[in-house]
Amino acid sequence: MTEMTEMTRNTEKLHVPLGGRSYDILIRPGGLDELPVVAASYAPVGEAIALICDETVWELYGRRVSSALRGAGMAFECIPVPPGEGSKRLDQLARIYNGLAGMGLGRNGLIVALGGGVTGDLAGFAAATWMRGVSLVQVPTTLLAQVDSSVGGKTAIDIDAGKNLVGAFHQPKAVLIDPQLIETLPARERAAGMSEVIKYGAIASETLFAQLESRRVPVDPAVLPGNPNAAPADPAGVSGDSADIICACCRIKRDVVAEDEFDAGRRMILNFGHTFGHAIEAKYGYGRFNHGEAVAGGMRIAAGIGEILGVTARGTARRLSDLLSRYGLDAREDADDLIPIVRRDKKATGRDVKLVLLKGIGEAVVERLEYPVVEAALRALRDRGGDDASRDPDERGRKP
Ligand code: NAD
Ligand code: GLY
Repeated sequence: MTEMTEMTRNTEKLHVPLGGRSYDILIRPGGLDELPVVAASYAPVGEAIALICDETVWELYGRRVSSALRGAGMAFECIPVPPGEGSKRLDQLARIYNGLAGMGLGRNGLIVALGGGVTGDLAGFAAATWMRGVSLVQVPTTLLAQVDSSVGGKTAIDIDAGKNLVGAFHQPKAVLIDPQLIETLPARERAAGMSEVIKYGAIASETLFAQLESRRVPVDPAVLPGNPNAAPADPAGVSGDSADIICACCRIKRDVVAEDEFDAGRRMILNFGHTFGHAIEAKYGYGRFNHGEAVAGGMRIAAGIGEILGVTARGTARRLSDLLSRYGLDAREDADDLIPIVRRDKKATGRDVKLVLLKGIGEAVVERLEYPVVEAALRALRDRGGDDASRDPDERGRKP
């Protein structure tokens, strides 16, 4: 198959039907070069365009983006964002507001978010609040952002009291996904993105899950010591089926968001693993595990207690845990000390917490559980040796 044919096969436009807030997700290898065309659709001639961009991404792709926009006769200003979760804070938001004011970006102006989930969430929240809301185009550059955070309109920043506590729903006008951008992504960040990819299989598609199980693992074993399943690194760092996998995830997210834009019901299944995942991140002050790694640990816990509570089919936790390990996601946490942090979760009340559990691979349910029930399940999980109640006792609880 020629490169051109492969690219054509991998090119997809997914429509997100949300009435007046509808938009398209464009998934195109090489699509970064289409940014001028996409931006021109949402920034009337003469209106300011602010490119809010992760600094590392700007070093890698800034020249290409600048020359594409300038070549199309479009003026823009870049507001760089330092890499890392530490940028999703009020001080960076204030810096962005000052930048927008400095360039005179008015109500018809456009904000383009170019970076991973941190940049997308921060720039998205700026777009939601600047002048009570301006147009936003998301150009996600990490796997995690391409399959998850750029779609669906959740924007947020972190404060000392917790992650994503200040935020808004603000749908983008378009999401432009170039799967080739993940070729420069460090292997650890690619693995973190795979955590969300595996989540989609676990909650909504056994077909995707099985595809991931049979896939050649595109991680670098040198970066992930102790992962016996890691195949030699793909020279490009990305498998040929990456665009297809990104499409599969975006299709699932699109369907869920279209059914429940404001997170009142079904959308909660997208938080599978996140309640414990956020608690794991918080436990270490957001320094030890990145978001994807923590969510992997959280999914192991949720699948394990699901089996203990009799909600999840036996063997599911083991299958999930094995797949996560295949992609270098080996984080395991003793979960019983996470409860005080879980109690502060956005979906917690004084008595109980809503947890996403699996019925089996490909099907998720939301259960409201009182804390004593969760605590007892976590204790049982610990006593059984970890995330996997069905594993042979000799295999259980092995940490890398
Ligand atoms: P990130 O944005 O911090 O990016 C990870 C690292 O990759 C950074 O160091 C960045 O500089 C670098 N990077 C980005 N693109 C690159 C590229 N193409 N090549 C090389 N390096 C590149 O992290 P992330 O994992 O993308 O996002 C995590 C954030 O997303 C968290 O804050 C999380 O809360 C948020 N999130 C939001 C949603 C949502 O629905 N809004 C969903 C999931 C996660
Ligand atoms: N990432 C969870 C959501 O978008 O709802």
